[in-house]
Amino acid sequence: MSKIAELNETVELSINGQSYSFPVIVGTENEKGIDIDSLRAKTLYITLDSGFKNTGSCKSAITFLDGEEGILRYRGYSIEELAEKASFLEVAYLLYHGELPNSAQLEAFSRELEAEAALPAGVDKIIDSFPQDTHPMAMLSAVLSVLTGYYPESVNPNPDGKLAEKLYIQLLAKMPTLCAYIYRRGQGLPYLPPNPNFAYCENFLYMMYGEAGKPFRVNPTVVEALDKLLILHADHEQNCSTSTVRIVGSSQASVYSSVSAGVSALWGPLHGGANQQVIEMLEAIKADGGDTDKYIAKAKDKNDNFRLSGFGHRVYKNFDPRATIIKKACDDVLSAMGINDPVLTIAKGLEQAALNDTYFKDRKLYPNVDFYSGIIYRALGIPTEMFTVMFALGRLPGWVSQWKEMRDGGEPIGRPRQIYTGYTLRPFTDLNKR
Ligand code: MLT
Repeated sequence: MSKIAELNETVELSINGQSYSFPVIVGTENEKGIDIDSLRAKTLYITLDSGFKNTGSCKSAITFLDGEEGILRYRGYSIEELAEKASFLEVAYLLYHGELPNSAQLEAFSRELEAEAALPAGVDKIIDSFPQDTHPMAMLSAVLSVLTGYYPESVNPNPDGKLAEKLYIQLLAKMPTLCAYIYRRGQGLPYLPPNPNFAYCENFLYMMYGEAGKPFRVNPTVVEALDKLLILHADHEQNCSTSTVRIVGSSQASVYSSVSAGVSALWGPLHGGANQQVIEMLEAIKADGGDTDKYIAKAKDKNDNFRLSGFGHRVYKNFDPRATIIKKACDDVLSAMGINDPVLTIAKGLEQAALNDTYFKDRKLYPNVDFYSGIIYRALGIPTEMFTVMFALGRLPGWVSQWKEMRDGGEPIGRPRQIYTGYTLRPFTDLNKR
């Protein structure tokens, strides 16, 4: 793989007549950045970029995304090919190790995951101690952090290759078990340990919906769709939760606590919670008679506070390549399960109307990955408050791979600056003496 290069190109900055020069660095896909590492030292100025829309926080060799062209690649492989030809476990291996596994490596990886899939004794009791209606993301974030107590070696901020891989296996193996039991806790159902006869996604569905000692069968199309969904969510370069994982980890916090912080960052409706909003919107439109034209008009009316959820993306400016794949998976799952979900008809109606409408075209508002994922989760019987947990289950390989890259690269602690806007120095006032 070619390395990041420093071009001969420089950028000149002029401040009050004084000129400063900064190097330009170029990535392997030719994207360019101005390296302002020395900006403050040279000038005493900082940059201000709320939301980091123009700021690269790191160099990374994991995921490439071109928002203008609708390109997403993990370690150089297109998301389209990975979704079609690879399994989630292969992708999880790829993200972490940088290469796809051969069949012996995949077999060994699967066996290691199988051996680590059960929750450590007592963790089910911790989950039981939460009020039954606790939000699943609160339980997930808390328990991931608590796991540090069961694996004290995980607090090592600089694990060697062997320990780092062991921690990854532990997290990846336990995540479905944890997510499934969190779901069951909400339903008042007992903990169902993993069944070594099932592969990763099938086992997850078994732990969610199975019964101890009873046969469990699930439609292979459903398993395939779930696998695909996890692949599509596995990484997305420096999004809010991944940046959180990297910044928490940059303080040399453990991988468990960094990932726990990532779960919290994923919780909000502007990040992982977006597909829940889409389903709620589609349900509301259905309850109001299902008139998509009416809601398209409302979305265009600036005096109406209705917003189309699941359209547009902060970095994709033409289309989200994950949405195309997911739409097909959605059709497959619903027809395999014989489900005729009216919200899917509404979703397709909205998509069609928006794609043909100049208002949406001019604003580059296209359905994103969240637009159809909720419909699949619903078909799988997953309640809406679990949607974000499903996202976290898929995103885990990305979080840990990014954490490892950041630690291996010896990145400094993340410590942004600010422009202070408060009071200037003022004398102390004793309010009681006035
Ligand atoms: C993601 O997959 O993380 C979301 O699309 C959000 C993002 O990338 O900003």
